[in-house]
Amino acid sequence: MQIDTLILGAGAAGMMCAAHAGGRTLVIDHAKAPGEKIRISGGGRCNFTNLHCGPENFLSANPHFCKSALARYTQWDFIDLVDRHGIAWREKTLGQLFCDGSAREIIAMLRAEMERAGADLWLRTSLADLSHDGARFIATLEREGARHRVTARNLVLATGGKSIPKMGATGIAYDIARQFGLPVTETRAGLVPFTFAQGRFAALAGVSLPVRASCGAGRFDEALLFTHRGLSGPAMLQLSSYWRESEEIAIDLDPDGALLERLRAQRGASGGHRLTTELARHLPARLAAALPDLLGLSLAGNLADQGDAALTALCARLRDWRLTPAGTEGYRTAEVTLGGIDTGALDARSLRARAVPGLYAIGEAVDVTGWLGGYNFQWAWASGMAAARAI
Ligand code: FDA
Repeated sequence: MQIDTLILGAGAAGMMCAAHAGGRTLVIDHAKAPGEKIRISGGGRCNFTNLHCGPENFLSANPHFCKSALARYTQWDFIDLVDRHGIAWREKTLGQLFCDGSAREIIAMLRAEMERAGADLWLRTSLADLSHDGARFIATLEREGARHRVTARNLVLATGGKSIPKMGATGIAYDIARQFGLPVTETRAGLVPFTFAQGRFAALAGVSLPVRASCGAGRFDEALLFTHRGLSGPAMLQLSSYWRESEEIAIDLDPDGALLERLRAQRGASGGHRLTTELARHLPARLAAALPDLLGLSLAGNLADQGDAALTALCARLRDWRLTPAGTEGYRTAEVTLGGIDTGALDARSLRARAVPGLYAIGEAVDVTGWLGGYNFQWAWASGMAAARAI
């Protein structure tokens, strides 16, 4: 079979590309349904983009690489597409847009766009062999026990990263990139909970509070969640993308910095109450009770027993809690894979490999990783569109 474009992977980026590439396009995926990560994303409601999306929300060895694609297909373009399909949505927080109904509406929208473009989709299909004869890619595909030889002028790598192997994630994009001489940067699990020594936070599991968390160049004002295994919640997921083994993270448990003044004021009115009771007016009670263990603080006595210097020292400690995670939960639960196909080998405008005619890489397979909050899907849409326009 001769086609114009073979797209490997019917995820967010691959479907977007197929819907706009033109010519004879075939998308293959080894899964039994397209867009499985879209389906489970955002708790089933798909955080499909972010109102504030810009290049500063992405990590990459080359932070400028994502600019062109993001500028040429913006969050407003995707919102326009969603609106044209009559999908209701709302902003939840921090510019994050979710479907009112179900993430399945986004998948149905992409399928409809693919059908309109005449793109074919083969599910439960795998790539058995791939070569290039100088002009065309020659692929052997396996589908329902039968083998099909397909030749295509363009090959688009859209098989995502390694996150959540249980959902069918594989490193095939990296293998194919290497096969054609494209370098691949080191990959790591990103947007993933931190783990700590067994049981360290077990007593606090389920407690959540707003914090400011920082590590390296990453600094986020979002919620922290204590779990049986360690620390999670948006603030920790965000930080994990900036964290390296054995590094310390810093957590500010009083992110608006108002605690000292509040405690001073309370000292007048309710100084006879226990210090932990008064702290629990601003922090979750279980956390306030655990502070002596967690931070080595002495919270014995009443609030009135604390002079200004003691309260200042206490609040300073709460604003600078340093701890070193044992690790992360890894690809098993990571929302994304950091690193990937080296952007140096790709043209930023078209996502085309500089040295291999007709080879494109898009979406999470590329070394561009967004923050939590709809940024990764926006990269999938924008990079898929950039390749489609060039094809
Ligand atoms: P994606 O992973 O979507 O698609 C790759 C496709 O390739 C899959 O269909 C897979 O089956 C197929 N494939 C892989 N290997 C293959 C092989 N060897 N042969 C054939 N096919 C193969 N982002 C966001 O912006 N907002 C959100 O709300 C969320 N929420 C979220 C929740 C969870 C639980 C996860 C795991 C991830 C998110 N994300 C997210 C991240 C987002 O899902 C991710 O960045 C995009 O899906 C990446 O799109 P791609 O098309 O690049 O890969």
